[in-house]
Amino acid sequence: MNFKKELAGILYEALEGEISVEQLEQAIEKPKNQSLGDLAFPCFSLAKLKRKAPNLIAEELKEKIQSPTFEKVEVVGAYLNLFLNKKLVSEKVISQIMTEDSHYGDQNFGVGGNVTIDMSSPNIAKPFSMGHLRSTVIGNAIAKILEKCGYKPIRINHLGDWGTQFGKLIAAYKHWGDEEKVKQNPIKELLALYVQFHAEAEMNPALEDEGRSWFKKLEDGDEEALSLWQWFRDESLKEFSRIYELMNVEFDSFAGEAFYNDKMDRVIKLLEEKNLLVESDQAQVVELTEEELPPCLIKKSDGATLYATRDLAAALYRKETYDFVKSLYVVGHEQSLHFKQLIAVLRKMGYDWADNMVHIPFGMMLKDGKKMSTRKGKVVLLEEVLNESIEMARSNIEEKNPNLANKDEVAKQVGVGAVIFHDLKNNRMNDIEFSLEEMLRFEGETGPYVQYTFARACSILRKGDWTKDASSQASYHSTWEKEWKVVSMLMEFSNAIKRACENFDPSQVAKYIVDLAQSFNKYYAEVKVLEDSEEKQARLALVYSVTVVLKEGLRLLGIDAPEEM
Ligand code: ARG
Repeated sequence: MNFKKELAGILYEALEGEISVEQLEQAIEKPKNQSLGDLAFPCFSLAKLKRKAPNLIAEELKEKIQSPTFEKVEVVGAYLNLFLNKKLVSEKVISQIMTEDSHYGDQNFGVGGNVTIDMSSPNIAKPFSMGHLRSTVIGNAIAKILEKCGYKPIRINHLGDWGTQFGKLIAAYKHWGDEEKVKQNPIKELLALYVQFHAEAEMNPALEDEGRSWFKKLEDGDEEALSLWQWFRDESLKEFSRIYELMNVEFDSFAGEAFYNDKMDRVIKLLEEKNLLVESDQAQVVELTEEELPPCLIKKSDGATLYATRDLAAALYRKETYDFVKSLYVVGHEQSLHFKQLIAVLRKMGYDWADNMVHIPFGMMLKDGKKMSTRKGKVVLLEEVLNESIEMARSNIEEKNPNLANKDEVAKQVGVGAVIFHDLKNNRMNDIEFSLEEMLRFEGETGPYVQYTFARACSILRKGDWTKDASSQASYHSTWEKEWKVVSMLMEFSNAIKRACENFDPSQVAKYIVDLAQSFNKYYAEVKVLEDSEEKQARLALVYSVTVVLKEGLRLLGIDAPEEM
């Protein structure tokens, strides 16, 4: 139900069709302070059209608003302020939530269009870092939000499983590797070999050539190189899968960089045909002077391809395979230039659909104000972080609710949820300071706070023996005065979803559910919901509605909502 639309319709009639319903709907505002009304319509811009002072126009419009939806209309200066009929609107909103349940807030503007989402995309033989956590969590939430709006998301894990670094890794393994050790602790050993390679190569530059030649062999399909690479890849994926399972994230495709090895010749040919490839320092590049970007490197002097070459092949493949309406890349802002170049090259190749590609950057995860990096081994391992968070959640449960039945599961839901929420609650461009204590707080803007509010609401429903059937027969509330704040928040859900979808910004949903949780907790502190009264069923129906929206909001962020904690 959309009261803005209803008001826009009434204004349209009142203005005798001089301004379109859409324009009117856009002009309708929500007063900052609810005591001024629930909706406001500014009349300034009508003054010219009507050749009248805006406040007079407001007065005239006021007379024409005769709908039971609005219980009071006031003119304040040039504004028409409208107060919704609390009883009528509350009952409509609540019965809508009860009917639609988790579909409340669904949108249909996506109309089934495919959207590919390049997300997570860790590099094999390296630990899954906090940076990849950000991409995973943000990408997953965007996918769910898009789906809620009618799109069909396709989650693609563009694994970093190809490139010169794997030549180096093979060289390192050939020199110093120990099969048994790698088997026991793959990522750690492989990372150590990689670090050792860089240290030794500083003293012995010939190693670099060795690495390059191993990668060349890999690209040419050399058996030994391929089988080592395959082994490193399998072991890495085993470790990554544990993390994805813990976080409940699934992918539609694991086509990583290696997948495009046999698809790059075509790209290079196309670039040649379109006369876009030029020689520069013995390498092949696409010049992007008009775009004011540095040239995009396509092929090195030794014939090896690059990250960008694989991304070009991937873009073509995705367009041909999924015919996307949008193609998203959830990758840290350090790679902004790369994506600008990628899109620019595709445009130069004459592909209009390059305009539908969007890089979705995000800020860094900081520890004590500094960047966390893998190179120097100074890295916080995500799996350890998640496990630590789960442990902390568990000791919290032991303290607060020692008799809880499924402690393990709840500890996992809360521990993982805390990490995810902490990541999503701020605009994604902000850097985030990593702090487990902060994430796991039960007060303030945290995942556990929202989950706790949900569990509390569920317990109220249990205590009140509430069932949906009983309440739909019960008479509703007489005034909905004290409930109004919460009802107004419930009405805002679809706006939060729309904003999140349009801006690829899950924090809109995160902020929204914190606000809803806060207004609900305030209400619950003021009103004795469970006290016997004629209005008890209606109050419980409101509590139920809050659980539906909190749960759905958390789900959109990729977070579970335990009913008890
Ligand atoms: N593996 C890359 C990294 O960790 C991210 C890949 C992002 N996706 C892409 N299509 N380039 O930096």
